[in-house]
Parts: sequence; C-alpha cells; structure tokens
Amino acid sequence: MANREILEEKSYKTVYREGNTIVKEFTPSHPKANVFNEAYIHACVEGCGVSVPKILGVAPSGGGWALSMEYVEGRTLQQMIDAEPEKAAEYLEKLVDIQLEVGKYRVPQLRNTRYKMEEAINTLTEIDASTKYELLQRIHGMKRHTKLCHGDLVPSNIIIREDGSWIVLDWAHATSGNAGADAAITYLRFSLEQPKIADQYLRLFCKKADMAIQYVQTWMPIVAAAQLTKHKEAERELLEKWISVAEYQ
Ligand SMILES: Nc1ncnc2c1ncn2[C@@H]1O[C@H](COP(=O)(O)OP(=O)(O)OP(=O)(O)O)[C@@H](O)[C@H]1O
Ligand SMILES: [Mg+2]
Repeated sequence: MANREILEEKSYKTVYREGNTIVKEFTPSHPKANVFNEAYIHACVEGCGVSVPKILGVAPSGGGWALSMEYVEGRTLQQMIDAEPEKAAEYLEKLVDIQLEVGKYRVPQLRNTRYKMEEAINTLTEIDASTKYELLQRIHGMKRHTKLCHGDLVPSNIIIREDGSWIVLDWAHATSGNAGADAAITYLRFSLEQPKIADQYLRLFCKKADMAIQYVQTWMPIVAAAQLTKHKEAERELLEKWISVAEYQ
C-alpha cells in the first residue's frame, strides 16, 4: 500500500495523498449527505467538461465517509503567491482568468446562487428581521444568471501544472448563477485571509470581466451574511461590518 501523506487537517476532515489518489476523509459526525452532495456536485461539474480532478468514489472510512479523487501534480496558486509575493499581480490575473473561464460553463443540475444565499440568510438568528428583509430584497433585485460559480475560488483551490495548465479543486459550494456573487465571495475570502491583495483582486476582476465594482459591492452584504452561517468567531467583526451596509436606516 502507498504511503499516506497528510496535506491538510481541519476539525472536521483530513486531506491526504495515497499514491495517485487524494482522499478527503470527514469525521464521523460530519453529515453523510454533505459528503455525497460534494461528490455529486463535483461529478456534475466534471461531466460538463470543466478542468477538475476526476472523482473516484465515496466510501466509508475512519468511522465516517471519505471521497477520493485523482491526484494532480503541480503547485497551488497559493503556493506560488507565497513563494513569489512580488509576482502577486500576475498570479491574481491568472485567478481572474480561471474564474471567468469557469463562468462560461453551464451546469444546470446545480442549485441557483440566489436561492442558496436566500436559504442561508433565512436560517440566521444573528441579524434582526429588518436587516434580513433588506438582504432578501437585495437578492430579489438581482438578475437571474446561470453561470457556473465555484463558490470558494481562492488560490489554494487552484493547481497549476508544470505546463501552465490549471485544474480547480473543492466544488462543495458550487452554484449556478451570478459571477458578481462569486467575485464577492473571493473578495471576502481575500479580505479575511490576505487583505493586502484583496482590493487588487477586485479591481482586476472588474476590469477583466467588464463589471462595475458597484455591482460586486451590492453582493457583499449578501455573501457576508451567508458566510455568517458558518459561525467562525474570527470572521464575525468583518462580516458584521459588511452586512451593516444593508441595515435599515
Ligand atoms: N486532487 C488533488 N491533487 C493534488 N493536490 C490536492 C488535490 N486535492 C487537494 N489537494 C491539496 O490539498 C489541499 C487541501 O485540499 P482541499 O482544498 O480539498 O481542502 P481544504 O482546503 O481543506 O477545503 P476548503 O478549501 O473547502 O477549506 C489543497 O490546497 C491542495 O494543496
Ligand atoms: Mg481548499
């Protein structure tokens, strides 16, 4: 049997490599449906021809469930940014190009971005009824689009192979909908984790997508509220600041 190399450990999952296979093993308390759902979304995206690692299966593992996929040789875009921060602009441009390329695909089996956000916001107990109302009105005012949205397109979810070609990981949050929402999520993740390059990302995205920054900004309180459902204490302050824009005055 090939050696197990642990790549990532979180409270609810471990990602490891075993030869040519990557295994994402979830803890026993992690809902079985979430694991199967991630595999389903991944398979739908793969079936539409997007560059993703082939999903190989879902199986019981370590008392819980694990999904396995093919191992892709290369470096993540995050590893490249960390190794050469002076080239951040070039790598951010690559990220934006990939995001725009992904958005050209249509995966009709996926849930719509607007519905997913609406459902998440409806479950929130942290915000008052008036703010919730304002956020839901904002969602209803958004156009219906059907672009493939990754839902967590950050540099650590992109692998660049030696020949420069790319492959995107981690499709659990993918939806069919609005590119502006997807950009707002990426911008939020940068603002939380790599604030120095967040604005650079947003400017680049809007320029390349020919999209008004104001349109992405309209999505910001919505994606921040949806992110609040994950209850990460370290994120709370920034999320509340973003949400406050939509508060009833
Ligand atoms: N198929 C793959 N081939 C090569 N490396 C992979 C593959 N899948 C994951 N990895 C490596 O493992 C790391 C973590 O995997 P993954 O992105 O799936 O989990 P995660 O980052 O913990 O999840 P999330 O992004 O949802 O928080 C990636 O950043 C990448 O370096
Ligand atoms: Mg990841």
